[in-house]
Amino acid sequence: MLPVQRRRASIPWARPRCLSVAQRQREACTGLTLKAPVGSVSGMRIVLMGAPGSGKGTQSQRLVERFGIPQISTGDLLRSAVARGTEYGRRAKAAMDSGQLVADEIVLGIIRERLAERDAAHGFILDGFPRNLAQAQALRTMLAGIGAPLDAVVLFEVDYAEIIKRISGRRTCPQCGRVFNLHDASSGSTPRCDHCDDHPPLVQRRDDEEGTVRRRLEVYERETRPLAQHYAAQGLLRTIDADGPVEEVTARLVATLSSVPPAQPSAHAPQTAP
Ligand code: AP5
Repeated sequence: MLPVQRRRASIPWARPRCLSVAQRQREACTGLTLKAPVGSVSGMRIVLMGAPGSGKGTQSQRLVERFGIPQISTGDLLRSAVARGTEYGRRAKAAMDSGQLVADEIVLGIIRERLAERDAAHGFILDGFPRNLAQAQALRTMLAGIGAPLDAVVLFEVDYAEIIKRISGRRTCPQCGRVFNLHDASSGSTPRCDHCDDHPPLVQRRDDEEGTVRRRLEVYERETRPLAQHYAAQGLLRTIDADGPVEEVTARLVATLSSVPPAQPSAHAPQTAP
């Protein structure tokens, strides 16, 4: 087995970091790539959208570490429900394994519960939700009901060839859920999580098999990508080039979010009948 230092160095962006608030603020001010003013992203309500493998989860984790806003990933919530064998999980499993969208009713139930948790009151990152127009409309109504509209929707643009490469190398820690990539690990070593104390072996997601990935990309083009127009019409859409080193994508994302003016609670409220 490789020494800890070497294994960690091989997967730089996945390295867990336990920063204090002061450290986070210092890093946001002085980091090589993060030039955004401190606090500009904290408290924001953000949607990250993009094709499977475009880096939504990776970048969400980085925003969580730097700005302390929670990541709400419907994919992670659904995988957890499947693993725990809950009613939602049992109903979601077949759709997930075949690369289709899980029924709106299930996803909306999960999201409604999650947004009601205390940590979501001060901003959140929605990762992988909404994924179709019905979900976008339901989200808008939910947020209007609590006077907390979205601040921004960021679309990640990446070439499909790069996406296929990323997904083929993706591995996840079964314990902490951290995402890694074999293409960046030292060859010959058994990939293990360097975040968890007992270093469990990393696993491949069931839906990362080639045929399933193709279906997920088709579903993305048909159901999810059209949401970009929907959010552009509301003035919420920002697009970033999500190709290139993770640090650079983070810098682009933070710069983009920092330029977003705060949402006005009434601005996106749904029309109510007289
Ligand atoms: P979900 O888990 O949301 O999957 P996804 O949207 O397909 O996105 P991924 O998790 O595959 O990719 P990502 O963009 O997060 O990329 P990552 O950061 O991991 O959904 C799974 C399933 O659940 C769906 O198919 C559906 O069945 C169901 N579901 C979920 N939400 C739903 C909803 N709202 N409605 C209905 N059904 C729903 O990065 C990928 C890899 O690339 C990693 O290995 C990473 O290390 C690496 N990487 C990241 N950035 C870079 C970079 N800049 N350069 C090189 N490598 C990079």
